[in-house]
Amino acid sequence: MEVAVVGTGYVGLTTAVSFALHGHRVTGVDVDAAKINRLKQKICPIYEPGLEEALARAIDSGALRFAASLKEGARDADVLFICVGTPEAADGSADLSYLFAAVDDIRALQADVPKQRTVVIKSTVPVGTADRVAALLAACGGIHVASNPEFLREGSALQDALSPSRIVIGADADEAFAVLKRLYEGVKAPRVFTTRADAELIKYASNAFLATKISFMNELARLCAVLGTDVQTVARGMGLDSRIGPEFLQAGLGFGGSCFPKDTIALLQLAKQHGVSLSILEKVRDLNATQPDWFIARLRDRLGTLHGKRIAVLGLAFKPNTDDIREAPSLKVLNVLLREGAAVSAYDPVASPAVARLFPQVTYASDPYAALQAADAAVLVTEWKQCVDLDWQQVKAVMNAPVLFDGRNAWPADALSKAGFVYVGVGRS
Ligand SMILES: NC(=O)c1ccc[n+]([C@@H]2O[C@H](COP(=O)([O-])OP(=O)(O)OC[C@H]3O[C@@H](n4cnc5c(N)ncnc54)[C@H](O)[C@@H]3O)[C@@H](O)[C@H]2O)c1
Repeated sequence: MEVAVVGTGYVGLTTAVSFALHGHRVTGVDVDAAKINRLKQKICPIYEPGLEEALARAIDSGALRFAASLKEGARDADVLFICVGTPEAADGSADLSYLFAAVDDIRALQADVPKQRTVVIKSTVPVGTADRVAALLAACGGIHVASNPEFLREGSALQDALSPSRIVIGADADEAFAVLKRLYEGVKAPRVFTTRADAELIKYASNAFLATKISFMNELARLCAVLGTDVQTVARGMGLDSRIGPEFLQAGLGFGGSCFPKDTIALLQLAKQHGVSLSILEKVRDLNATQPDWFIARLRDRLGTLHGKRIAVLGLAFKPNTDDIREAPSLKVLNVLLREGAAVSAYDPVASPAVARLFPQVTYASDPYAALQAADAAVLVTEWKQCVDLDWQQVKAVMNAPVLFDGRNAWPADALSKAGFVYVGVGRS
């Protein structure tokens, strides 16, 4: 099948590569000409494990190519996936301007080269968007519109796209279902066939529920910190119940990234527009917004003041194995530390250049030990392997004081306490 993928960011590029590896002929299209030029040279514009190698393989096999416009690269496309960004608008709703710009391009393409096509919305969009797109494209004739939300996780995006947890397909015509069934033939995953609106809500509801699990555990961690109980042990005991499950029960500095923050607010806005209050989700967001402050307040208590202290921040990306810093908790942590007059040195294996553009006053180290040099305390913000598996003797030797604040509960608490460190985790005894 001839596939075009509109938008080659985290989702679009991964989608394009994985469909190419599954044997389809794929063209990735993006308005960012510089990105397209790099992709043509097999340079991956994002850090995502395994993606650059897979990109090269797909291009070399002749299955994947890139173009700067639909008219240049997608004239023959049978299926067009829309994977453009849907960021947060000023009022919290999803900004659909990129999506409708892409729809305009598809309309122009169809006017130029009329053909039977299926337009598939993979971007995360509010309920009703695919119906609006279908109404806009109806006049062109020959186009079906489907919703096929994406559930990949940054850091394991390619693996998730190649072996998804589920494939959700929403459509209103047998032809559209048939096209997507063919496209996903051979991909082992449970399928959900439903309406476009259900598919759109499944995506938002999934992210909102995962965010709720995280905030629930973070709130519980605050109680644990007072009671002297251990949130990690509590989480393990809870997670062994198959009705609860072990994932997303880790207390920490809160969720960030390009999805949970914007998708939770967009769902709240959607519900509000329909006169419904999602009060649990409101609380989830409130708690998340204050979690880094809550943790740094404990650091302030420990040190007496942050003013004039040297603090090492380990990990800046919103989670390990990605260079994405959108809504990363590290940004909130740096803000508080700098506002209160701390001198900050930071280390991240890949995200430092992006953070340096926002916080030029921070010193960026090329390894964790350089960041820890003469530090009065260290804060683990992102649990990269490079920030977790440390030589603790060396850590102790280079720090000014052996004070460790583990914002991800990833350091070996007991061993560190025995080794003479002051260890403070998130809700750990
Ligand atoms: N990043 C994730 O982990 C993830 C996971 C699941 C779903 N999603 C959803 O997928 C969508 C895309 O997310 P992302 O993180 O890949 O975004 P991104 O910002 O990384 O990439 C979007 C790309 O679309 C391009 N673009 C914008 N307008 C265009 C147009 N008219 N034509 C062609 N290209 C255009 C941009 O230049 C950019 O390269 C969003 O709706 C997001 O919520 C993201």
